[in-house]
Amino acid sequence: MSDFNHAFWSIAVAATTLVGIAACLLLLWITSRKKVAASSDNTTGHVWDGDLTEMNNPLPMWWVWLFIGTIVFSLLYLVAYPGLGTYEGELKWSTRGEYEAEMAQADKALAPLYAQFTARKPEELAGDAPAMAIGERLFMNNCAQCHGSDARGSKGFPNLTDTDWLHGGSPGQVAESITKGRTGAMPPMAAAVGTTDDVKNVAHYVLSLSNAPHDSLRAQLGKSKFSACAACHGATGKGNPALGAPNLADDVWLHGWGEQAIIDIVNHGKTSAMPAQSGKLTDAQIHVLGAYVWGLSNRPPPAPRH
Ligand code: HEC
Ligand code: HEC
Repeated sequence: MSDFNHAFWSIAVAATTLVGIAACLLLLWITSRKKVAASSDNTTGHVWDGDLTEMNNPLPMWWVWLFIGTIVFSLLYLVAYPGLGTYEGELKWSTRGEYEAEMAQADKALAPLYAQFTARKPEELAGDAPAMAIGERLFMNNCAQCHGSDARGSKGFPNLTDTDWLHGGSPGQVAESITKGRTGAMPPMAAAVGTTDDVKNVAHYVLSLSNAPHDSLRAQLGKSKFSACAACHGATGKGNPALGAPNLADDVWLHGWGEQAIIDIVNHGKTSAMPAQSGKLTDAQIHVLGAYVWGLSNRPPPAPRH
């Protein structure tokens, strides 16, 4: 209803519904009073297929009462349930309420199971197959749309299976990333670096940090310009988890590799956000998910299947 949030629409919908019901009653009343002039043999005079005639009998009473019954039912229904515009109905029933009641019931049923999980450390939980099966399902339902079903991420969405962390990879840091969400913000830096050529040089210096193919002369010229970046990425470009500044020396690229990708980021900056999950998932679910995500890069790989 968000497009039709003016009170007028609620009234218009309710009025249309009530006028419709009143029209049914009126139709019933008119037809019960009006008599079609019948010929002497009590037919309407319509003839089909040579000899098929239509009798002019009144509506059977059981049918009339059924009709009236449906009208009464509809009125009682509209008092009890939502149906007249935005009127909630006396029973205050809603699909959202029903959904929430079902979720609360499910949470209650699962509480003893989750209590066992929350009593254990994430490091321990990561080796527990039933807990990790639940963690995987939570991941598929809540995280895979951004991080991929294999958690390897994609451009702009970090890979959660490697040991390269933007915000830190301890179980506590991972749980915090999930609970509160994270924002990584790099401002446009071109003005602080200098000319277009300076920006290109600093890009080659960044490439040289991970031994990626680069122009070594440009890299040398760009080195001094990197001081503008060191506050966040560190003097040696190894990043800073407290700021979410990525390690630039490990050849793992969140936003794409190469001279042009780096120049674009320096010129335009980059902000990425991971949405906080605390309102969506319970603390216990986050505990299991945190163990699952931590385990993706810390668990020994499962034995190969045959
Ligand atoms: C709307 C997309 C989106 C969803 C949904 C999402 N994430 Fe993220 N997540 C991101 C982005 C983007 C980042 C990187 C933020 C940054 O650049 O600092 C991130 C970062 C993270 C990090 C920190 C990674 C690091 O290297 O420090 C963790 C852990 C994480 N997400 C786990 C999860 C889990 C678990 C879920 C499911 C409950 C989830 N995410 C759901 C987009 C998402
Ligand atoms: C204010 C802190 C800050 C400064 C200063 C800063 N950066 Fe960043 N940089 C970040 C953050 C935070 C990110 C991650 C953005 C995200 O999460 O999407 C980032 C991302 C990047 C990336 C993308 C890395 C990848 O894995 O794809 C490159 C390249 C980069 N910065 C280079 C630089 C260079 C070169 C400079 C200096 C000219 C610089 N940054 C200055 C905070 C900073």
